[in-house]
Amino acid sequence: MSLKRHLQKARKDKKAIGQFNFSTLDQLQAILSSSVSLNIPVIVGTSVKEATFFGMAEAATLVGYYQKKGAKIYLNLDHGRDIETVKKAIDVGYNMVHFDGSKMDFEANIKDTKRVVSYAHKKGILVEGEVGYVPGQSAMNKCDLPDVDVVAIEDVVCFVKNTNVDLIALPFGSVHGIYSQAPKIKFKFLKDVSRIKPFLVLHGGSGVKDDDIKKAIKLGITKINVNTELRMAWRDGLKQSLKSSEYAPYSLLNKSRSNVESRVKEKLLIFW
Ligand code: 13P
Repeated sequence: MSLKRHLQKARKDKKAIGQFNFSTLDQLQAILSSSVSLNIPVIVGTSVKEATFFGMAEAATLVGYYQKKGAKIYLNLDHGRDIETVKKAIDVGYNMVHFDGSKMDFEANIKDTKRVVSYAHKKGILVEGEVGYVPGQSAMNKCDLPDVDVVAIEDVVCFVKNTNVDLIALPFGSVHGIYSQAPKIKFKFLKDVSRIKPFLVLHGGSGVKDDDIKKAIKLGITKINVNTELRMAWRDGLKQSLKSSEYAPYSLLNKSRSNVESRVKEKLLIFW
């Protein structure tokens, strides 16, 4: 089944597909194994830095291999900010791309997103666009939540009409990373935009309360991105392993891998 069909079905059934980021093989294997054992589709994401570390072609080849074996796993380029990088991901076999023009001015964002959509759709690849800006960093940030600026519904409608994106990331109140307070989801805004055609994407899935996530899914969120919580689980596992006298990477990384697997399972059971 194609990623588009999974998204359509998720929206109809009021479920959401998790996007989990990775930059190492053990993280990718952990996400795959959670998805296979629960029989729930997943999107795996690489930011540009994550893709550079792992290798774009390597990521696409491995995910393609898992797909051939029957796994419901799909690869997204997360926060691609220039057209050349996004085109490269499409050419090596990513299943979808997120073109993030949120730091550009509105007209330039429309113009470049439109170019990405035209290139991607010729190859059957889905495009996530972004209007407004979701602030923050995918890390444990020991400071106050950054402000999330609202975006006008008319701008969202205009962006969708002019770009024909398949998915759209909007500032729903969550932020990238974990801060000293949990973010507050803007449910009224979510309700107001829930009728637009593209699938709605919640970035900054880490640190959002489970009940808020469930409510957001009921109101139309169809894809949720999670990175920081997995990074923390991986890091905690490694810290624990490094206390031993082990040298073999397969022993040192075992705990990281099982930590990530458990965290992804927990998320999948909330999203699906
Ligand atoms: P978190 O790091 O807050 O989970 O956000 C991840 C994300 O939105 C990736 O696009």
